[in-house]
Amino acid sequence: MINTKVNFCGVEFKNPIVTASGTFGFGMEYDQFVPLEEYGGFSAKGLTRAPREGNKPPRIAETPSGILNSVGLQNPGVEYFAESIMPIISEFDTNIIANISGNTVEEYCEMAEILSDTAVAIVELNVSCPNVKHGGLAFGTDPKVVNDLTREVKKRCKKPLVVKLSPNVTSVSEIAKAAADGGADGLSLINTLLGMKIDINTRRPVLMNNTGGLSGPAVKPVAVRMIHEVYSAVDIPIIGMGGVMSGDDVIEFMLAGASLVALGTGLFVKPDLILTVKRGIEEYMNRYGIENITDLIGAAVMN
Ligand SMILES: Cc1cc2nc3c(=O)[nH]c(=O)nc-3n(C[C@H](O)[C@H](O)[C@H](O)COP(=O)(O)O)c2cc1C
Repeated sequence: MINTKVNFCGVEFKNPIVTASGTFGFGMEYDQFVPLEEYGGFSAKGLTRAPREGNKPPRIAETPSGILNSVGLQNPGVEYFAESIMPIISEFDTNIIANISGNTVEEYCEMAEILSDTAVAIVELNVSCPNVKHGGLAFGTDPKVVNDLTREVKKRCKKPLVVKLSPNVTSVSEIAKAAADGGADGLSLINTLLGMKIDINTRRPVLMNNTGGLSGPAVKPVAVRMIHEVYSAVDIPIIGMGGVMSGDDVIEFMLAGASLVALGTGLFVKPDLILTVKRGIEEYMNRYGIENITDLIGAAVMN
C-alpha cells in the first residue's frame, strides 16, 4: 500500500497534485474531463479586487516547448468569486486555493479578508503584479516590499497564506526568506518567466502587450533549480510548478523540495493529465518500495 497524503500548512491533501492558477479556470470547467476529486486541490484563476477584462488579444503565443501568455488577470473579481463561484466549487471533495493579485497592499488585505470568510483552504498571493505605489515595479522583486506585504496580509488573513514567487529576480532565496520572515505559511514557485516573441513578417511583437510570461516544459529546469535553492533557504513548505508533464516530473519536483506539485500549461495539451501523472507516481513508488510520498520531499537536497 502506498500513502500519497500530504499535510501542507495544516491542510490535508489526499495526494500532492494541485493545479497552477490561471490554467484551470475555476475548476468546474475541467470536471468534464476528470472528476475534481482526483486532485489533492486546485488553484483557481487569479482574482483581483474589481473585475478585469484582461489584455487585448493576441495574448497567447506558442514557443518551443512552451507558451507565452499575457492574459492580464481576466477575472470576475473577488466578491463575485466568494458569493457566486465558491458555493458551487466548495461542493467538490478537494482543497481550493484562492490566488490573489493586488495593485496595492490594501487591495491584497481586503481580498484576503473576504476570502477568510469562505471555504477556501489556502490563500495564495501572486506577487508578480505591478505595485502601483512603487512606479509599477512588481511587488515580488524587492525583499522589503514582499516582507511588508506578507506581514500586512497575514494580520488580516484567517487562512494559511502562501506567497507565490516570481522567477524574474536575481536571488529567489532572498525573496523567499523575506516572505517567510513576514509570516508566510508556505511558498509556491515558479510563476512565469518574462519573455517576448517577434513576428518577422510584420516586424512586431506577436503579443498585443509586447511581452508575456513563459511557461511549459521550457521552464522546468529553472523551476527545479529554484525549488531546490528555496528549500535549502527556508523552513516553510513549497508548492512546486513549472512545466510538469508527467509523474516523473512530479517526483523530480518533490525530490527538489516541493511538498505539493501543480499541473499548469500541461493541462492545455492534456486536460486529463492528472490520470497519467498519478499512474506514473504510483509506478515510481512501487518500483522503489516507497510507502509514504512525503519521504521524497527534499530528498535530493544536501543540507
Ligand atoms: C494562461 C496562464 C495564466 C496564468 N494566470 C496566472 C494567475 O492568474 N495567477 C498566477 O499566480 N499565476 C498565473 N499563471 C502562472 C501559472 O500558475 C504557473 O505558475 C506557470 O505557468 C508555471 O507553470 P506551468 O509551466 O506548469 O504552466 C498563469 C499561467 C498561464 C499559462
